[in-house]
Amino acid sequence: MAAYRRSLVACGVGAALGQIGSRAEVLDCGIGSGALAIALDGILVSRPNFHGIDLSSEMLARAAVEMRQVGLVPELLQADIVSMPFADASFDVVMAAHVIEHLPEPQLALREMVRVLRPGGMLFVCMVRRSGFGAFIQMRWRTWAVSERQGIAWLGACQLENIGSQPVNLGSFAGQASIAFWARRPGRPKHIPDIDAATANRGNDL
Ligand SMILES: C[S@@+](CC[C@H](N)C(=O)[O-])C[C@H]1O[C@@H](n2cnc3c(N)ncnc32)[C@H](O)[C@@H]1O
Repeated sequence: MAAYRRSLVACGVGAALGQIGSRAEVLDCGIGSGALAIALDGILVSRPNFHGIDLSSEMLARAAVEMRQVGLVPELLQADIVSMPFADASFDVVMAAHVIEHLPEPQLALREMVRVLRPGGMLFVCMVRRSGFGAFIQMRWRTWAVSERQGIAWLGACQLENIGSQPVNLGSFAGQASIAFWARRPGRPKHIPDIDAATANRGNDL
């Protein structure tokens, strides 16, 4: 989806994953038909390993079909975003689009997403934002409609850093009905020491 792609480019996730290359692990929570994962794949030079979870087996089956059509073979699992069957610090990027605002306590999902995120890894979430259209969605589907300030506070409460945000234009009459947030988990990415060591060795040669 073009709307997701713009925010994924803005947050710099491509550069972050580019440093890790094909060893990178990406988790899409509430993957639905795979739109966010497919959008991310579309901006990357090197393809990471995609994982996806969803409560719905029907959506997982749909994700498998749609992602296979663009050459992706994700590992898909039926699971709840607030309690995922993954070890701590398993992924370089953990993301969710239009999922956590449907939950009674979105912060529980955010904390679980951060748990499975590696130090230095990137969290990316896209949610319905507070707006005229957001209010309609909120009334119709009883979701949260999140303000920029509230989203930033939620990510800050998870001890994330380098928090950024951008309204997402979903096109047609919905306009900028959503907002994307991104942030880093503090710490050194596991894969970066190799790069630092190479740089240090080069320094010794000078
Ligand atoms: C509005 S769709 C968004 C799908 C996809 N992320 C996208 O942007 O196209 C929400 C998805 O989240 C899933 N979902 C809802 N609650 C969930 C939960 N607690 N854990 C995991 N997935 C959930 C739904 O089954 C659905 O596939």
